[in-house]
Amino acid sequence: MLDKLNQWKKSKIKQQPQLTQELDVIPKHVAIIMDGNGRWAKSRGLPRVAGHKQGMENVRTTVKAANKIGIEALTLYAFSTENWKRPPKEVEFLLRLPNQFLSRFLPELIEENVKVTMIGTKTGLPTYTLEAIEEAIEQTKNNTGLVLNFALNYGSRFEMVEAIKHIVDDVAHDKYGKDDITEETVSRYLMTSFLPDPDLLIRTSGELRISNFLLWQIAYSELYFTDVLWPDFTEEHFYQAIEEFSKRSRRFGGV
Ligand code: FPP
Repeated sequence: MLDKLNQWKKSKIKQQPQLTQELDVIPKHVAIIMDGNGRWAKSRGLPRVAGHKQGMENVRTTVKAANKIGIEALTLYAFSTENWKRPPKEVEFLLRLPNQFLSRFLPELIEENVKVTMIGTKTGLPTYTLEAIEEAIEQTKNNTGLVLNFALNYGSRFEMVEAIKHIVDDVAHDKYGKDDITEETVSRYLMTSFLPDPDLLIRTSGELRISNFLLWQIAYSELYFTDVLWPDFTEEHFYQAIEEFSKRSRRFGGV
C-alpha cells in the first residue's frame, strides 16, 4: 500500500492540479451516499428525475477520479430498500439508470480495468436493471482495477437480518458452534464480504444521516459530510474529501 502510494505521489501528484497537497494516505475503500439530486433539479425548475440523470453523469466523473488516484473500491448507494416508497415513475427512472449508465460507459469501464460488482437484493429488481448489471459484472469479472460496487435495492438492516439467518442455519447444521462466531464471521456473511470496510464515507447535500447504509461496515470509517448537492459534486470536491481524510488521525479505539 505504502509503496503504491509513494509511487503515485511521485508520478501522478504533480500532474493533478486538483490535488492541492501531497497526501500521506489514501483510502482503499470509499463509500458515497449520493444525495441532493431532487433539490438540484428543483432549484432549476426541473423535474426530480433531471437531478438523477445529472447524478448519473457524476458517477462517471467520480469513478474516473477514484481510479486516477488508485482507490481500490468505490461503493455507491444508487437505490435503497426504502426508495421503493417514491412515486412509481421516479422508482422506474432510478432503476433504469444502471442500464443507461452501462450502455454508455461499460466499454470505457472495461478499458479502464474497472470491475463492476453489486450489493443488494436482486429479488424485486426489474429485468432491465438486473440484465444490465449482470452483463457488466460478467464482462468485468477478471478486471483488476477499481471495484465499482453499486448498492442497489440495498438496506443494511435487511443485510444483517439475512446474515443472522444464515449464521443460525449454519450453527444448526453444525458447521461451527455458537461460540465460534466472531466479528469476522459476521463480516463474512454480509453482502460486502469481498471488500474491506470503507475507510471513508462521503454524504453530499448537507444531510447528516447514514440512511441504512453499511451500518456494520462503517464502524471505524471516517465520515465526510458536504453541503454540495450530488449533481454539483466535482472531481475537485472528491479530492477535497480525500485530502480531508488524509489529515484525519485514525485510532480505531486506541490512542
Ligand atoms: C438521493 O437524492 C439519490 C438517490 C435516491 C439516487 C442516487 C442515484 C444516482 C445519483 C444515480 C445512480 C447512477 C447509476 C449509474 C446507478 P434525492 O433524490 O433524495 O435528493 P433530494 O434529497 O434532494 O430530494
